[in-house]
Amino acid sequence: MLVLSFESSCDETACAVLEMSEGTREVKSNIIASSVDIQALYGGVVPEIASRAHIEAISKITYEALDVAGVTIKDIDLIAVTNGPGLIGALLVGVNFAKSLAFANNIPLVPVDHIKGHVAANYLTHKKLEPPFLSLVVSGGHTSFFDVKSYTGFDEIAATRDDAVGECFDKIGRVMGLPYPGGAMVDKLASQGDKHAISFPSPSINKDTLDFSFSGLKTAVINYLNTKNQKGEEISPADVCASVTYSITEAITQKVRDALNKTEYKKIVLAGGVSANSHIREALSTLARETNTEFYAPELSLCGDNAAMIGAQGYYEYLDGARADEALNAYPS
Ligand code: KG4
Ligand code: ZN
Repeated sequence: MLVLSFESSCDETACAVLEMSEGTREVKSNIIASSVDIQALYGGVVPEIASRAHIEAISKITYEALDVAGVTIKDIDLIAVTNGPGLIGALLVGVNFAKSLAFANNIPLVPVDHIKGHVAANYLTHKKLEPPFLSLVVSGGHTSFFDVKSYTGFDEIAATRDDAVGECFDKIGRVMGLPYPGGAMVDKLASQGDKHAISFPSPSINKDTLDFSFSGLKTAVINYLNTKNQKGEEISPADVCASVTYSITEAITQKVRDALNKTEYKKIVLAGGVSANSHIREALSTLARETNTEFYAPELSLCGDNAAMIGAQGYYEYLDGARADEALNAYPS
């Protein structure tokens, strides 16, 4: 079946067309319009600006997605839309647009949870991947382990107690004056630095929990940078990025090892914007080899927010019986 999908939970307005059936998972178009350049001027996402940018972009990218896929709205069998979590004003643009399109054209509509969508990006990259498995979602808003029992049945088994890992990367990037959002640049600089140059605290809390805490690490790095500045001492951005990334990667690798042991899964699926991080991907590949575990991560183009992942999850929600009517609403958290 042909699925048309929408994502507008943060600063990316996205629309995609997918061909999904038993044995087929094909992305026919995947269009993203981002307001990141405007948000960068403010050093973070301004919700009102994001909502206005979604309104301006959504109609145009829908035409583009249909065009690139070589189909018209009449060919579409299902519409899927992110209805949470995210910025409420931003979500409402996508939800109301998808609702109007679905009811005007008599097409079934399904709501999709953004986090489940991130996990579903893996189904598009790894055509044979099926649940159950353990998943770690690492993004700008989330850092959570899920027991993914089926395509639609998720149990959260651990999470960050404060900041998300992407938020931590972005705040450190901001204090260092890196372009917003800082995650990708921290990744790049980390490859050029000495990971043992500075000893930063671990976000792993302790061995008894699978939860994380990133606020202590974030504060320690900011204090380190401020102290160096006040003393007029030189800072090596590459060493700071390498040392922070090392602390985060070590904690994630240890927690994944513990979570695999606890759940007895032999399959770990990484998802979310931070799954693009080269150091985390490499460390988890090594862990997988050592522990005879299957490791999956989305192709780089599907790690960040996009609508293809929403279409993939929407298809499985539809198969599971989900249907939305005109009362469909968005939820922020
Ligand atoms: O999933 P996503 O696009 O949006 C949310 O749902 O939050 O994740 C965005 C986050 C940002 O914090 C961004 O800095 C981070 O993903 N990110 C990275 C990398 N690429 C994007 N973090 C670390 N390394 C990267 N290569
Ligand atoms: Zn996301």
